Amino acid sequence: MNLPNLNEARKRTNNKVNEYQVDYHLPKVFAGKKYFLRTYGCQMNEHDSEEIRKYLELLGYTETKELIDSDIVVLNTCAIRENAHDKVFGYLGRCKHLKNEKPDLIIAIGGCMSQEETVVKEILNNHPYVDIVFGTHNIHELPKLILEKKKSQIVEVYSIEGNIYENIKYSRDSKISAWVNIMYGCDKFCTYCIVPYTRGKQRSRKLESILKEVQELKEAGYQEITLLGQNVNAYGKDLEEKVDFKTLLEETAKTNIPRIRFVTSHPWDFTAEMIEVIAKYDNIMPYVHLPLQSGSNRILKLMGRRYTKEEYIALFNKIKEKVKNVSITTDIIVGFPNESESDFQDTLDVVNKCKFDSAFTFIYSPRVGTPAAKMEDKIPIEEKNKRLQRLNELVNSYSLENNQKWLNKEVPVLVLGVNEKDQTKLYGYTDTMKLVNITGFDEDLIGKIINVKITEAKSFSLDGIVVKEGVLN
Ligand code: SAH
Ligand code: SF4
Ligand code: F3S
Repeated sequence: MNLPNLNEARKRTNNKVNEYQVDYHLPKVFAGKKYFLRTYGCQMNEHDSEEIRKYLELLGYTETKELIDSDIVVLNTCAIRENAHDKVFGYLGRCKHLKNEKPDLIIAIGGCMSQEETVVKEILNNHPYVDIVFGTHNIHELPKLILEKKKSQIVEVYSIEGNIYENIKYSRDSKISAWVNIMYGCDKFCTYCIVPYTRGKQRSRKLESILKEVQELKEAGYQEITLLGQNVNAYGKDLEEKVDFKTLLEETAKTNIPRIRFVTSHPWDFTAEMIEVIAKYDNIMPYVHLPLQSGSNRILKLMGRRYTKEEYIALFNKIKEKVKNVSITTDIIVGFPNESESDFQDTLDVVNKCKFDSAFTFIYSPRVGTPAAKMEDKIPIEEKNKRLQRLNELVNSYSLENNQKWLNKEVPVLVLGVNEKDQTKLYGYTDTMKLVNITGFDEDLIGKIINVKITEAKSFSLDGIVVKEGVLN
């Protein structure tokens, strides 16, 4: 048994990051059996689930979308806010119930919650029916843990700085748009955030390895890739060779893959050269997710974000000025410990100045082990809820205003599939990352970039129709 340890997870050294290859010699012993995989959290977790899915399929399992039909359940969890925990423990209740009926059911928990001491203690004490707990550093060991499964619980979680695994095979969700990890972990240690503890230190993949993966995806027919990292703009800072995100973006653009995206950008590491590259290449999409977190300099300092309100706005304006038609989205936290009404007004002020295309807004949630969780907080939750509501109203009004600018215009859309709610429609994304529901069903358009005329604009999506002769690729 290997339990997570917060003090170990916090450590950062100059130790070299080791690179490993994953062993794919797995026996197909579970042929005929079914797996159910549920993913919580960010894109990083979505992509990790594509790795998990591959291992399960190599062991012979096939996927079921119904929990009740499964022989193994894997929950890939998120620890970012308390409600993420609540959701997982709520769902575990259903898994427990199923296990009462199907005693051979295997229940495995991975992801960021598994990296938390308190969570693993709770599982050990109160959830004995969970068979396997694995962490973010040893996803590749999941098949071994399943094959070794015994009567007692297996907890195999490492609180280490982390390694890099190359040539990972994925069973990808989409054949059109793919995630590409460019770095793992995070060294920023924003005072509210659990990620540097659950994901280890910042480890960038080598430029050649990333480009090789992009090239392979392009050859496999992928139309779009998204470069993934907690702080993509800090890419390369930890590598010996002199390489940065600007170079990576430029080299990726030169592969001529039709669409390139990247998340997440920390304002701190965003350079003028990066903006120039985004502006220069047509296949780098004019879309930047630039988390603000707070508009108050006092709170930004307490958060450890290392930029001011003024610096954020200056960067925002520079991106807007240089990158034609760029859309910029953000993340905002309300109710950080002792955030005053005037601090909150500063946040509203930035929203009024930047008029974001959209914003993910959250109420601050204390995470055990982070510095902010120890800060005294006198603001009642009712007040925080009210602020969130006020913020959302403002944010949504700007989303609508921004979307309305596209009314009656023709925009290029990468069609990803059939609209789940209305099977007579297709859906896809504009280059500016706006969801478009498209009238004019033609299955042949899936995977193509087409011209769509926008007929209606809502806060969270656009409606459009296919423009004749509109296929662009
Ligand atoms: N690496 C990214 C963010 C990853 S987490 C960045 O630095 O921008 C995604 C978002 O969750 C964050 O941007 C933040 O807005 C929110 N978040 C993180 N920790 C939180 C906490 N303790 N409470 C509430 N929201 C949080
Ligand atoms: Fe968390 Fe900050 Fe790292 Fe983003 S940059 S993952 S918010 S510590
Ligand atoms: Fe992502 Fe949640 Fe972990 S946001 S990095 S899955 S804590």
